Amino acid sequence: MRKRIVAGNWKMNKTPDETVAFINTIKDRINTDRLDVVLCVPFVDLMIAKVLVKDTNIAIGAQNMHFEESGAFTGEISGVMLAEMGVPYVIIGHSERRQYFGETDTTVNKKVLKAIEKGLKPIICVGESISQRNQGITTDLVRMQTRIALQGVDATKALDVVIAYEPIWAIGTGQTATSLQAQEVCASIRQVLSEIYDRFTADAIRIQYGGSVNASNAAELFSMPDIDGALVGGASIKDEFTSIVGAL
Ligand code: PGA
Repeated sequence: MRKRIVAGNWKMNKTPDETVAFINTIKDRINTDRLDVVLCVPFVDLMIAKVLVKDTNIAIGAQNMHFEESGAFTGEISGVMLAEMGVPYVIIGHSERRQYFGETDTTVNKKVLKAIEKGLKPIICVGESISQRNQGITTDLVRMQTRIALQGVDATKALDVVIAYEPIWAIGTGQTATSLQAQEVCASIRQVLSEIYDRFTADAIRIQYGGSVNASNAAELFSMPDIDGALVGGASIKDEFTSIVGAL
């Protein structure tokens, strides 16, 4: 039985002071052992967020990392740094990183391999644009993104990976995929995982849906057999996040 996982992707929101105020307001309501709850906060908030969730079941995550361990990469943060801070999760290959910062399936794969090597759990984002959906290539594309992201990751390590299916047209638009559309793609991701690995491994890997998840659509999405939780953007920086966690 897969343990469900809801992660908040704060994106470029909340200063350290705002982080203190927000986490203190919501933490008792999102502290549960029924499911994994992860807050993926900006780098500058990681340290304080970690302190604030100490003695709870809430985990902290970063939103990106570089695939090199150190060196002349001004402005970047490495997996070693995150690991030493005791940050367990890291989002890799979010569509905004792909769109605005030139990330590709190949760099996503390098980051995934480095994250795993350092003992981090990557939340790997995949998903199609609206024109790709209209062309009818969603499943092929998402299968390929998943395959490339996991190249070189063995089955045991793959168990620590979370895949987030995030249709780009649903991110931040208020236009959520229907539960059937989301289920269809999440099932095809599970299918490709069973082709890369085996049925047992595919059945153990958690797959999230992300894209305009909110308090009113969460329960319906979570009722789908291949959707094991959500990656929540806009609603994760509001009190509404507590209702989404409550819906699982
Ligand atoms: P959204 O973002 O919930 O605001 O659509 C999701 C994401 O980008 O992870």
